Amino acid sequence: MILLGIDVGGSSIKGGLADVTRGELTRELLSLPTPQPWAPDAVMRTVADLSRKLPASGPAGFAFPTVVKRGRARTAANVDEGWIGIDGAALASDAIGRPAVFLNDADAAGIAEIKWGAGRDTPGTVIMLTFGTGIGTAIFSDGRLLPNTEFGHLCMPAGEAEHYASARIKTEQSLDWQQWIDRVNEYLEQMHRLFWPDVFILGGSVSENFDEFRSLLQSPAEIRRARFTAQAGVIGAALAAAMSLDKP
Ligand code: BGC
Repeated sequence: MILLGIDVGGSSIKGGLADVTRGELTRELLSLPTPQPWAPDAVMRTVADLSRKLPASGPAGFAFPTVVKRGRARTAANVDEGWIGIDGAALASDAIGRPAVFLNDADAAGIAEIKWGAGRDTPGTVIMLTFGTGIGTAIFSDGRLLPNTEFGHLCMPAGEAEHYASARIKTEQSLDWQQWIDRVNEYLEQMHRLFWPDVFILGGSVSENFDEFRSLLQSPAEIRRARFTAQAGVIGAALAAAMSLDKP
């Protein structure tokens, strides 16, 4: 079964067709710039564009960087405040003309990694971290997700984690790998102190450079590179859409 996944981020909106029985994209990921500001109507025009370029049938998955409770966006840390209270599935469904499933972007990325990627067949506590405009977190216990964890907003001695150690901050403050990873290590230490995970999975586009910084990373937990890096949100969104078909 091939389903459409959409992942909205601070700089780009990505779309892809994923074979949800094999966990891989069937063609190259498409990406369009995120409209600024990210008001719901503007985002949905881009989603509709992507969906026209990626024809598919069946439900689509729509991953977005907010808490999603009972289908509605509840926070707006890096997005337009107009999203709060929005039924994202209904809006996406209007834009693409088919049913849609709405979920948090880090949860989507984590679902993909647990099912087919770096967290596959891994018992215990696994924490997926996505480093991008913000820091996304998805926490799994024996493969089961605790949805909507928001530990990118953890208060650290230097301030809010995602204002200190996200990939955006690395770029904005022109931090080199060592400077950035020093901050990431502080964050991993705080997260480890709170959750004692067995494994951290590091994701987001920046994880494509994992080989450049892996030797600098430090944690008592095992640290794995995300398998799907920048594609994880799209693949996980498509997987969430597939899972919606199994629900009564
Ligand atoms: C948001 C999260 C999101 C993360 C990564 C944070 O600012 O609050 O919901 O998962 O960014 O995009």
